[in-house]
Amino acid sequence: MARFTLPRDLYHGKGAMEALKTLPGKRAMICVGGGSMKRFGFLDKAVAYLKEAGMEVELFEGIEPDPSVDTVMKGAAAMEKFQPDWIVAMGGGSPIDAAKAMWIKYEYPEITFEEMCKVFGIPPLRRKARFCAISSTSGTATEVTAFSVITDYQKGIKYPLADFEITPDVAIVDPDLAETMPKKLVAHTGMDAMTHAIEAYVSTANCDYTDPLALHAIKMIQADLVGSYNGDMEKRDAMHNAQCLAGRAFSNALLGIVHSMAHKTGAAFADYGAHIIHGAANAMYLPKVIAFNAKDATAAKRYAEIADFMKLGGSTVEEKVALLIAYLRKMNDDLNIPQCIQHYGADSYPCEQGFVPEEVFLERLPEIAKNAIGDACTGSNPRQPSQEEMEKLLKCCYYDTEVDF
Ligand SMILES: NC(=O)c1ccc[n+]([C@@H]2O[C@H](COP(=O)([O-])OP(=O)(O)OC[C@H]3O[C@@H](n4cnc5c(N)ncnc54)[C@H](O)[C@@H]3O)[C@@H](O)[C@H]2O)c1
Ligand SMILES: [Zn+2]
Repeated sequence: MARFTLPRDLYHGKGAMEALKTLPGKRAMICVGGGSMKRFGFLDKAVAYLKEAGMEVELFEGIEPDPSVDTVMKGAAAMEKFQPDWIVAMGGGSPIDAAKAMWIKYEYPEITFEEMCKVFGIPPLRRKARFCAISSTSGTATEVTAFSVITDYQKGIKYPLADFEITPDVAIVDPDLAETMPKKLVAHTGMDAMTHAIEAYVSTANCDYTDPLALHAIKMIQADLVGSYNGDMEKRDAMHNAQCLAGRAFSNALLGIVHSMAHKTGAAFADYGAHIIHGAANAMYLPKVIAFNAKDATAAKRYAEIADFMKLGGSTVEEKVALLIAYLRKMNDDLNIPQCIQHYGADSYPCEQGFVPEEVFLERLPEIAKNAIGDACTGSNPRQPSQEEMEKLLKCCYYDTEVDF
């Protein structure tokens, strides 16, 4: 038996944020990030709509990108004090994911972070509050997914929390919020969405319910991402829907090792001054992982189907897989994303020598590979890598060398 779960309600289209007026409740806590929602006036709007719904409103502000366990605990304490019956999370993946984890801790004050990390082991929520998510980036689709990614900075590791319990009750996909994204954010979040759709399509948990969502998302991202990056606002609006469709697919079909590797490399070199941003990590690793997974005949056939759907040409499965890889690399070039870690600068742009020194990478490689294999996303990857294979694959992602194993 398989399960397919999505938010009960999804409001979409320009101005959809107005749906906040219809939430029935007494107290809403709005969780937001560092300031972009406030700066562009969306936070004030949300507060006004919720007040119009008759709710008392309190803010939890300042959730950082790649949120920490500490922030989660602080937010949960604020909720404990205010006792909201609605949690309204607004912004990119970071504040929404943090709010999801705060929600668990608010409902179960005794629960530890380790217990939250047990995949599909979160106890029933909604005893105290329901959850509404309003996304402002076009990538993570966390407004519709059963996931939350929290970083343990002591260990330098990102942990995906996974359970349909944390799938929001209400999702608001209002493209007005995405229009203020700077170019770089459009590029990174857009390639994150492409990775979600492709990993969902080849995942061992793919099914008839997830395939159409994944394929349509891929087609839209192919048509709209580069244009959105270059300032076309119609395409920007379309991307907001496309990423959500990809999310509806992967929340139910799960992901693969591109995400395992991105989770375990993202904060692994933070002591050298930067993160490998989630979407950029995915964009660099995806072509390598496709080459690795395509050694599995079933996965190769599914990649070829994607290539056909994108009308990339080619006559054999092998040719189609190669064309898909080439297409994705070209997208990275068009979006000013490097092809490998060695050329990933601290500002995320391509450069001759990136911020991760070769010797540091090689020294940390065995541990990172071990952690990536243990990541929650590895189980549904079509090919299970050994420790040796994962190390080789990560090396290909560092040097941009060919995957021939
Ligand atoms: N829950 C999931 O299913 C899932 C899936 C993929 C990734 N993630 C996680 O989500 C996080 C990344 O989220 P993200 O890529 O959405 O970015 P983010 O939330 O980290 O935001 C990045 C920056 O963009 C700014 N910003 C956000 N929206 C903006 C807008 N409309 N205009 C201007 N600035 C804006 C923020 O203030 C922030 O500084 C990572 O921690 C990643 O691991 C979660
Ligand atoms: Zn992702």
